[in-house]
This record gives sequence, structure tokens and C-alpha cells, in this order.
Amino acid sequence: MTNFNRRKFIKTSSLGAIAASTLSVNCQNNLNQSNHDKYLGGFKADPLPNIRAAFIGLNRGGTHLRNFANLNNTEVVGLCDIYESTLKRELERLYQITDNLKNLKSYWGSKNEWIKMIDEVRPDVVFISTDWESHTPMIKQCIKKGCHVFCEVPFSLELNELWDIVNISEKHQKHCMMLENVNYGRDELMFLNMCRQGVIGELLHGEAAYIHDLRWQMDHDKTRMGSWRTDFYREKNGNIYPTHGLGPVAQYMNLCRTEDNFHKIVSYSSPALGRNQYSKENLSENNSWKNISFKNGDINSSIIKTKLGRTILVQWDETSPRPYTRLNLIQGTRGTLAGFPTRVALENGFEDITKDHHNWIENENLIRLYEKFDHPLYKKLNKKTLKSGHGGMDGIMMYRIVECLNNGLPLDQNVYEGCFWSAVAPLSKQSILDDGKPQDFPDFTRGRWKETEKLGIVS
Ligand SMILES: NC(=O)c1ccc[n+]([C@@H]2O[C@H](COP(=O)([O-])OP(=O)(O)OC[C@H]3O[C@@H](n4cnc5c(N)ncnc54)[C@H](O)[C@@H]3O)[C@@H](O)[C@H]2O)c1
Repeated sequence: MTNFNRRKFIKTSSLGAIAASTLSVNCQNNLNQSNHDKYLGGFKADPLPNIRAAFIGLNRGGTHLRNFANLNNTEVVGLCDIYESTLKRELERLYQITDNLKNLKSYWGSKNEWIKMIDEVRPDVVFISTDWESHTPMIKQCIKKGCHVFCEVPFSLELNELWDIVNISEKHQKHCMMLENVNYGRDELMFLNMCRQGVIGELLHGEAAYIHDLRWQMDHDKTRMGSWRTDFYREKNGNIYPTHGLGPVAQYMNLCRTEDNFHKIVSYSSPALGRNQYSKENLSENNSWKNISFKNGDINSSIIKTKLGRTILVQWDETSPRPYTRLNLIQGTRGTLAGFPTRVALENGFEDITKDHHNWIENENLIRLYEKFDHPLYKKLNKKTLKSGHGGMDGIMMYRIVECLNNGLPLDQNVYEGCFWSAVAPLSKQSILDDGKPQDFPDFTRGRWKETEKLGIVS
């Protein structure tokens, strides 16, 4: 492997472990702290004409790496994964798309190599695509070292860690964006565009989900997601992966910006049967998940109430045999936009296709809807990004990140939005423990959310 051999692989003796868990921060104390002059709602960092980036975790992170390296004004300076084989694979792919790698250093072989990487290569930004429990300690350390951070979903499943993420970002005045790629899907961008144009009137109700049968991941080896994610079905309760469906709906509704915000949540889960049944029937005798007792209910349903009294149904199910859906529904006083399959009902009908809201605009008729309402970003980028991952949404997200960093613009998702969307995980768990009792969302903005402008329709 010539490219791999050309690089000097830096392998270190193990470093003292950075505290894997964060300081436990009392939520009430966080509310009492002042964030005067620190609030990051519309935060603009200094422009970065050449963005020097490092990447930790290279499975999902490999997609971000390639999308980043494909754009102008970017430079990859650090790569880190525990596994040498994963690192080699991604280096080979990287050398296919760029030769701007003169400053690249690679790190592998232990769980703490990333700390050394950040110290040695001093990147401007870090992309974190590792297991959920490592997100918060990595975010904190990278920000402390002066980096902007882009971290995979969800930020964390613990409220005290979400506060830690807000506090460290505010203290050091750094971007910390959760990489919610679904907000850049074609339908999601179009629905945002239609909501902003008032096509469905005043918004009342949304439906969001991550319903995706992932039982097969229990067959993953130790280098892939099933090796750690399966523990969350065993030990946790509630919606452990809320942000893909919720992120877009929250931005349609403008939550955490100007007019409305998250208020309360109630949650229930079904019994946990499917994984127990699947593992008994399908896993080999030597699979460590065989005959494990899974505790997390197969399907979780939560209802969020916003400050304006609007409602969002959020569902999660990674176990049941049913087709994939994120629901992606937004209902207003003049119509409804819905996903999986895509369909739209408008009170006054649409062109010569529907005359009122009693029929959906769907199937081949959607072409006319897309012609009229496709988001300008999608129109501009869809050809270039089609193969960038998840139907193009991954490439559009990276394009916007790079554009905003190059030009010193606010990002499309701020740190507070990432925290509110992630907070469904711990709050749904607590509501289930309290037999469905409503839980208050902490206000991660400490009352400042009204100051943040709406996410516009950028072109
Ligand atoms: N937005 C999306 O569409 C999407 C899709 C898949 C995964 N994800 C998210 O991405 C993250 C990663 O998921 P994945 O499927 O790639 O998981 P994975 O377990 O397959 O890969 C994680 C990688 O991180 C590496 N890693 C873990 N700890 C490390 C450490 N201390 N130092 C260096 N490397 C380390 C592992 O070796 C592994 O290669 C998760 O948060 C997941 O929820 C998001």
C-alpha cells in the first residue's frame, strides 16, 4: 500500500486517560449562570480561508472526510481511528481524491491517540464520528484546545453532558455543531422552503421518527457500530436516537429561534420483545448478544409540547420488522406536508393536480411540486452531491459547513439546537421512569433563544 507507507504513522505510548466521563454539572446551576456576551445563537467565527481539519473515527467519519476533501479551501491535517485497517482504508480513498496532503498526520492504535493528534496538528476544526459515550469528552477537549467541533448525532444521551457542551462552547467561543445531515435532504429542504413561504399557513403539529430495523447490526465485529450500540438496547430506556426526524421538524417550526421553543415532553415505550426474540432465533451461539436480556422497549413514542402549544410526535424503533421511516410530517392551518412516501395536501389545491386538501399530491405529480418549491441549495448542489452519501444530504451539509467557515457566517445549526434535539433521549427516559410524567426541557440558551434569527433560505 504505497500511499499508506509513505506516511509516517505516529504511534505513541498510551497517554494518561482523559476523564472519560464529564464533570457532573447540576442543571439548576447551569440555569443560574449568566451567558451575557457569550451566547452563541447566531455566532460568527473569524473566517477561515483555508480550513485545516482533523477527523476522529473513520467509519461514518470516512464520508465526512471525503466530502470535506472534495471541496476547495480545505486541508486534511489529521486522521485518527483506533483500528489500523480502518485508517488504511480511508487513507487509500483519500489519496484518490486529493494530493493536498503534505501536512497530514495519521494516528491509530489506542483510544487516546486523538488527544495527541489535536496537540500536534492544531487543527482549526475537528470532525468527531465515534460512539456516543466518547462524544462529550472529545468535544470538550477539542474546544479547550481551540478547535471548532462538528460532532455526529446525537451529541450525548445525558443532560449534564449537554450542559457541558453548551458551557465549554460558550466559554471558548467556538462552534459546536451536531452533524444532523437529514436537515439537508431534498424533501426536508423543500418543506422548509414551503413553510417559510407560508404555503401551509400557521404551523400546528409535526411528526418525526427514526424507524429503522437495525437488528442485523448485532452481528457486527468490534470495529463497527453494533459492537457498542447494542449495549444501549440492553441498558437504556426511551428514544436513544431522536435527532434525524426531529431536527428538520424543529427547523420548520423555528424552535430555539425567535418565535417558539421546546417546552415539555411525555414518553412511553412498548415492551422490549423483538430483540430478545431475534437474538434467540438468529444469532450464532458464539455471538455475545445471544440470550442477552434487552430492556429498552421496541418502539418509543414521545410527544413534545412547544412554548406556543404546538405538538410534535417523536417515535423511535430500531427493532421491529417494518419499512424505514422518519415520518417527516408538518401540519399547518392550510395544509400538510408528509414523508415516507412524500405527499402534500393543500387546502386550496395545487395547480391542476388537486383542487383541495382531500387528496394528496403524490407519486408522479410530485415533479411539479419539486419544480416549484425545491430549495435553492438543492437545485444548486444536487448534481455534484448525489453520490456524497444518504442521497446527497451529506454533501450538501458539508458544502454549507465549509462555506460558512470560509466566510465567517453563522452555521445552519447552532450548539443549542443540537442540545435540544439530543435532549429527547434523557428526557424520554425520565418520563418513562415517571410513568409518562411530563418533563421540562432545560433552556440551554438561558432565555436567549428569542434573539436568534430564523434559519433563512440560503441559496
Ligand atoms: N448522520 C448519519 O446519517 C449517521 C450514520 C451513521 C452513524 N452516525 C453516527 O456517527 C457516529 C459513528 O457511527 P459509526 O457507524 O461510524 O460507528 P462505528 O462504531 O462503525 O465507527 C466508529 C469509529 O470510531 C472509531 N473510534 C471510536 N473511539 C475512538 C477513539 N477513542 N479514537 C479514535 N477512533 C475511535 C472506531 O474505531 C470506529 O472506526 C455515531 O454517533 C452515529 O450515531 C450518523
